[in-house]
Amino acid sequence: MNGDTPLLEVSHIVTAFDTEAGRVRAVDDVSFQVREGETLGIVGESGCGKSVTALSIMRLLPKPAGKILEGGVFFRGTDLTRLAPEAMRDFRGRRIAMIFQEPMTALNPVHRIGKQIGEVFRLHEARLSDTDIQRNAIEMLNKVGIPDPERRLREYPHQFSGGMRQRVMIAMALALRPDILIADEPTTALDVTIQAQILELMKALQRENGMAMIFITHDLGVIADVCDNVTVMYAGTVVESAPVRKLFASPKHPYTRGLLESIPRLETPRKSRLPVIPGMVPPLDALPSGCRFRNRCSMALPVCEAVSPHLKLTGEHHQVRCHRTSALT
Ligand SMILES: Nc1ncnc2c1ncn2[C@@H]1O[C@H](COP(=O)(O)OP(=O)(O)O)[C@@H](O)[C@H]1O
Ligand SMILES: [Mg+2]
Repeated sequence: MNGDTPLLEVSHIVTAFDTEAGRVRAVDDVSFQVREGETLGIVGESGCGKSVTALSIMRLLPKPAGKILEGGVFFRGTDLTRLAPEAMRDFRGRRIAMIFQEPMTALNPVHRIGKQIGEVFRLHEARLSDTDIQRNAIEMLNKVGIPDPERRLREYPHQFSGGMRQRVMIAMALALRPDILIADEPTTALDVTIQAQILELMKALQRENGMAMIFITHDLGVIADVCDNVTVMYAGTVVESAPVRKLFASPKHPYTRGLLESIPRLETPRKSRLPVIPGMVPPLDALPSGCRFRNRCSMALPVCEAVSPHLKLTGEHHQVRCHRTSALT
């Protein structure tokens, strides 16, 4: 295979939902690439299309409402959107795994943790004996830092704290040594100290396995710590993408700048309120004309209402969708 082929390439995907109000495009022409071993951050406020992008890659969109209408998801050159369902099932877990924000919804409350981890091996590695499966499950729990794994395997999800449950989810996601892990707000539901521990764990496991990662968050603050590249999403579209250092050193899109200004810093006095971007992400059935961000943008020009901006290269590996920015460069 050509060394330039990315591990994962999302190419111009459009994902829509059929709703009572008609068809809405939750993801509208989104593209990005992830190379072997790299971490891409996807950031944006709630409702910007991050999870729908992840579910599109995994082909786990709610059926029958959700559909990928256009574009492709290429894993080492194979278009996953065209795979037969059985082939896709095999890709999931073994090649691409995903962890979710709220592990309680992904774990089955009535089964012991050991059985649920074992199930991953049973589904994908039919030749393993029960003893092998048990040994693998213990090894996985050890790896994610769960003390006393033999005992914990016999417990139920409600007997685990939020942080420990997320460790179990990470263990299940990594069980088959995937080439890429999609982590959708894996620490959002956790308190700050636990959040930091889980991030450290994920970074360590990633180094150990050499896997790539797509790290989804609404918090640009954690991106700097974890990611090589960043894609900023707004209302279903990519508004800026760049290597992480470049994005923090010279953010171009007014939306990215707004997100950066709202990251708490050590020197921020406790009581002072951080600036937040005024307004809200528009609902998909009421998108403004032209630039989707224009009615929240302090720099909007008349052209922003009339013409929808294209994503343009403003520097090496740095793309921006903004009339202002393209006029400046
Ligand atoms: N099942 C669904 N049916 C209709 N619209 C949906 C569905 N799931 C998500 N959406 C819409 O898609 C948009 C993107 O949602 P999502 O990807 O969950 O955002 P994020 O993960 O960035 O918070 C939102 O406007 C949301 O309301
Ligand atoms: Mg989400």
